[in-house]
Amino acid sequence: MTSPVSYSLEGRIGVIRINNPPVNALSQAVRAGLEDAIKAAQQDASGIVLIICDGRSFVAGADITEFGKPPMEPFLPDLLGAIERSAKPVVAAIHGTALGGGFELALASHYRCALRSAKVGLPEVKLGLLPGAGGTQRLPRITGIGPAIQMMTSGAPISASDALTAGVVDKIFDGELEAGARAWCDELLSADTQPRRTSDRSVDALTDEELAAIRAQVAKRARGQIAPMEIVEAAAAAATKSFEEGMKLEREAFMRLIQGEQSAALRHLFFAEREAAKISDIPRDTPKRDIQTIGIVGGGTMGGGIAMSFANAGIPVTLIEVNDEALERGLGIIDKNYGITVSKGKLTEEAAAERRQRIVGSTDFSDLASVDLVIEAVFENLELKQDIFRRLDETCKPGAILATNTSYQDVNAIALVTARPGDVIGLHFFSPANIMKLLEVVRGEKTAADVLATCMALAKKIRKVPVMSRVCYGFIGNRMLQDYGREAQLCVIEGGTPDSVDSAMEAFGMAMGPLAVFDLAGMDVGYKAREILPDDQKGDPRAYRVADVLVEAGRLGQKTGAGMYRYDPDTRRREPDPEVLKIIEREAGALGIKRRNIDDKEVHDRILFALINEGMNILDERIAQRPGDIDVVYVYGYGFPAHRGGPMHYADVVGLPVILETIRSFRETLSAENWTPSPLLERLVEQGTTLSEWARNR
Ligand code: 3HC
Ligand code: NAI
Repeated sequence: MTSPVSYSLEGRIGVIRINNPPVNALSQAVRAGLEDAIKAAQQDASGIVLIICDGRSFVAGADITEFGKPPMEPFLPDLLGAIERSAKPVVAAIHGTALGGGFELALASHYRCALRSAKVGLPEVKLGLLPGAGGTQRLPRITGIGPAIQMMTSGAPISASDALTAGVVDKIFDGELEAGARAWCDELLSADTQPRRTSDRSVDALTDEELAAIRAQVAKRARGQIAPMEIVEAAAAAATKSFEEGMKLEREAFMRLIQGEQSAALRHLFFAEREAAKISDIPRDTPKRDIQTIGIVGGGTMGGGIAMSFANAGIPVTLIEVNDEALERGLGIIDKNYGITVSKGKLTEEAAAERRQRIVGSTDFSDLASVDLVIEAVFENLELKQDIFRRLDETCKPGAILATNTSYQDVNAIALVTARPGDVIGLHFFSPANIMKLLEVVRGEKTAADVLATCMALAKKIRKVPVMSRVCYGFIGNRMLQDYGREAQLCVIEGGTPDSVDSAMEAFGMAMGPLAVFDLAGMDVGYKAREILPDDQKGDPRAYRVADVLVEAGRLGQKTGAGMYRYDPDTRRREPDPEVLKIIEREAGALGIKRRNIDDKEVHDRILFALINEGMNILDERIAQRPGDIDVVYVYGYGFPAHRGGPMHYADVVGLPVILETIRSFRETLSAENWTPSPLLERLVEQGTTLSEWARNR
């Protein structure tokens, strides 16, 4: 097998070239090749060594597929030490992304140049790790401790020009990287430039107060994650300990983290997200339709946000509303949103204007005649949606994709009113649609393969994370949410309070507790949804009793200043409301419920096991392709903590037998109607297998 690393002496430059598609990850073969190459460069007539990569990117990190397997020599920190010790200057030439171990390779090199379009970063924290090949010791020695901590705890890459300002890149090229890098190597040679080793540098320590402030700030943002705190300690050591001692400390922390549950969960999500983009019965090379222009019907909350998502990605949008007034209102909200982004300094005024001008409003349906894809985002009403689809069928050109953003309606029933059900699909965005990453791509019975393939690819283009769902009430996410919400509300009426239940879930890591989410979304949303359902489909009436009373009293949530909580008009901070407690107690009494103490464990088990149980049903019915898809939905769409890996990964962590046994006991003690173990859960427990094993062999 040929090595993914080649070495050749070209004039006085020893060129080390890495070619390990797709992202030049530092697999064992790459590490071994680099070790041989740097050794060879010490022996030959080269005066300088250039490390450069083929393909779309510089090295994007350690090979994550090797994590969790027995480590194989040469180990990356040792290899990078050898590169830094090179007697001849080493230059790294960066294009694409130098991430994680890849950026650490560049930091161990003596000089660094990059294309202007390149990015560098240490995203290990997103995998529950700290940089493990000298990043925590070398980066602070260049940038100072504070900026290094910021970069490593956020995991966000920085642009080449920011890297230049921070001193981590020495030179930027606009044209062709290799030619520029070679010319620079010649310059360095002529100037008799010597190796410049980062590990020889020292860095000023932070004061105790500064360090305490950083610890507090990082702990707050970490929300239960361990890796960010380990990063702070390792980076701080760069000032107080020798390089070797710092490396030892980093190594120990890296080994602790990589063996832990949080990193396993985050690594699972990394691959689950990439896997979710694939549809098992649709080949990767399925031809895709060309999508240059978008139409959106309905410029309300969702339509406006969806329009912004496309405009932000450079795709022109025609936005249709019922009348001028509604159109003006919709476009006005879009203007306001862009204005907020500019005022926060996240976008220049010119860039915002450029994006905004890609959205053109109209009240004339015939303006949709030539668009490549239409997304309907009108009120959640089947007849109205069917009516819109009939009109789209008459108006749109052949081959246009017709999508609905419905949350609950039957995509098949919508498709069937058209003469082209193969072109119809669900594209379920999440609110606010210009921000939330998740996109459920809903596959109708008749949806054509190329329509699906096109939409999965398009999602990536507008920076969304797509997950395919088959058709059912609520698709993957909202269907599971029903049982989750039911148990949260039952915990309240049976003895808890909104605050006690939310706090328990937030301590678990949820971005927001379930009752606070009701207030955020508007309590009237669920109320209206229930109103049109027949009684037997509304679920346990005890669950939504308090919600109904609150809505009828005009407490719709944050928008009215009160709902499950009351909200401070200035800070919008939530506060427990004694009024609500009175209502809960009164309604519990009326329903004959004797309130009792409900501890955090009960809250955790009821809410999460209900969620997991329904997830199992969704898998059994093949609504979702794989457990990992459900995890991606919950992490990107519902604020489930990423370091828990998503509900289905978490099910394996807890253990399926424990979950089944608990559900069976809830069936006895709480409610036989609400608690029916999923047949899949029962089968897996009987077979003594885990969900991930089952998914692998499915
Ligand atoms: N190891 C193994 N496989 C990797 C990988 C890695 N570091 N990075 C990406 N891949 C794989 C993906 O799984 C995917 O495989 P698939 O095609 O079979 O699904 C393929 O490469 C392409 O990846 P993307 O679909 O993500 O491609 P994009 O172009 O969208 O993104 C990227 C490219 C920005 C490099 C993105 O892949 C990424 O962020 N990768 C991870 C980077 C990272 O986390 N690096 C740190 C690793 S930990 C580390 O280095 C520890 C060190 O400190 C010791
Ligand atoms: P909204 O009420 O904010 O907006 C709907 C818009 O559609 C209104 O501006 C209305 O004027 C317009 N409209 C109605 N009939 C029309 C017609 N015939 N032609 C053109 N425009 C028309 O509603 P929202 O919240 O944006 O929801 C839209 C859809 O998105 C619904 O199906 C909803 O279930 C779904 N959805 C909503 C989410 C949310 O959090 N709000 C999340 C995900 C999906």
